[in-house]
Amino acid sequence: MAPPGVMDKLVSLCKRRGFVFQSSEIYGGLGSVWDYGPLGAELKRNVKDAWWQAMVRGRDDIEGLDAAILMHPKVWEASGHVAGFTDPLVDCKTCKSRFRADQLESAQCPQKPSKHPGEHTACQLTEPRMFNLMFKTFMGPLEEQAAVVYLRPETAQGIYVNYLNVLQSSRQKIPFGIAQIGKAFRNEITPGNFIFRTREFEQMEMQFFVTPGSEDEWFERWRGLRMGWHREIGLTPEKLRWHQHGPGELAHYARAAYDIEYEFPFGWNEIEGIHNRGDYDLSAHQKASGKKLEYFDQAANTRYLPSIVETSAGADRVTLTLLVDAFREEQVEGETRTVLGLHPRMAPIKVAVLPLVNKDRMPETATELFNDLRKRFSSFYDDGGAIGRRYRRQDEVGTPFCVTVDGQTAVDHTVTVRQRDSMTQERIGMEALPAYLSERL
Ligand code: GAP
Repeated sequence: MAPPGVMDKLVSLCKRRGFVFQSSEIYGGLGSVWDYGPLGAELKRNVKDAWWQAMVRGRDDIEGLDAAILMHPKVWEASGHVAGFTDPLVDCKTCKSRFRADQLESAQCPQKPSKHPGEHTACQLTEPRMFNLMFKTFMGPLEEQAAVVYLRPETAQGIYVNYLNVLQSSRQKIPFGIAQIGKAFRNEITPGNFIFRTREFEQMEMQFFVTPGSEDEWFERWRGLRMGWHREIGLTPEKLRWHQHGPGELAHYARAAYDIEYEFPFGWNEIEGIHNRGDYDLSAHQKASGKKLEYFDQAANTRYLPSIVETSAGADRVTLTLLVDAFREEQVEGETRTVLGLHPRMAPIKVAVLPLVNKDRMPETATELFNDLRKRFSSFYDDGGAIGRRYRRQDEVGTPFCVTVDGQTAVDHTVTVRQRDSMTQERIGMEALPAYLSERL
């Protein structure tokens, strides 16, 4: 496990450097809802772009979709979420805290000395009751039962109800997949650990439609591909592992499920789920809507409901995982250097351009260079303070390259390129810089 305090340091860095802010902070904040600042927005965008590239643009057999958050309420009845998307909840009448009845062992009672809920003599826990995690709202002017709609708790259902539309318009054949990235909402009882478990979050989900009987094979294939992706974006392989769901853990729709877990400072936790959903969802929607959702296999001249293998990752959770994995402190010349060792492809800023001093036409040359580089790379210009300090500021936000314009630049059109991790510097001709950066990014 990482040493204690890493999360506190990371949360502080995220606020100070504009990665993540608490929602509505000036009003005291809104519980477990977070906003992404300038650098956080770039980082999360890079996560989503990498996923979209791997899952949609880079494949012939997956189509993209962007379905609405609000859906017909019958969708959530058919999917089983109205009846089954619940957690058991207990209240403490003494401290007024709320806990998940199935997680009391790992929960903390707010009374001192620190114990688990129910263990203090003062604790008065209620009997568990089931609590539905979906947020409800009303459509139209009347706040009545008939107008209830839900904020979607997963993006998957938007894919199922559109599967025939996508199939017909894209002329795909089974096996094929539909992928989407979008917001989901869950009224979590025990959210926490910064952006790990929040009430509003983004999912990156893909549903792969296959011939019944071939789902086990596809399940294994997708497990391999998804674990490979997390390594590709730079997560430490030794900190990733599989967790297979036991019969008591399986979601109401799943026949089999594996989580990809990461070793966070607060323990091993899920970052993505791979689920064999069988034909649970399509048969439920077919029954509830009365619309045939079967696939016609022309070659075999048969009709069937496809089985589904789902891959479901949280964009916020992957963003947090990248930050945790990248965060390090090291001693350099008697000072602590904080570094986000992000994979260059994920880094919010790829290159910082710095004039060594603010004279001798160095700012003008650096500005010109910056304006050129920003057309191709996420770039940043900084002329404030000593050069060593400026390097450290970039290290702390994970910028892989700092380009410095100095006295030599005016003589031979070269600049120094400093690498974040090794801190080594080399001189490069300005014209060669875009190619140099492209190669390394
Ligand atoms: N469609 C299947 C599904 O939603 P899930 O295991 O409930 O499965 C999938 O969620 C992923 O969504 C999780 O692995 C996690 O990355 C993300 N996720 C779920 N609940 C979340 C929450 N409250 N906050 C942030 N991310 C969450």
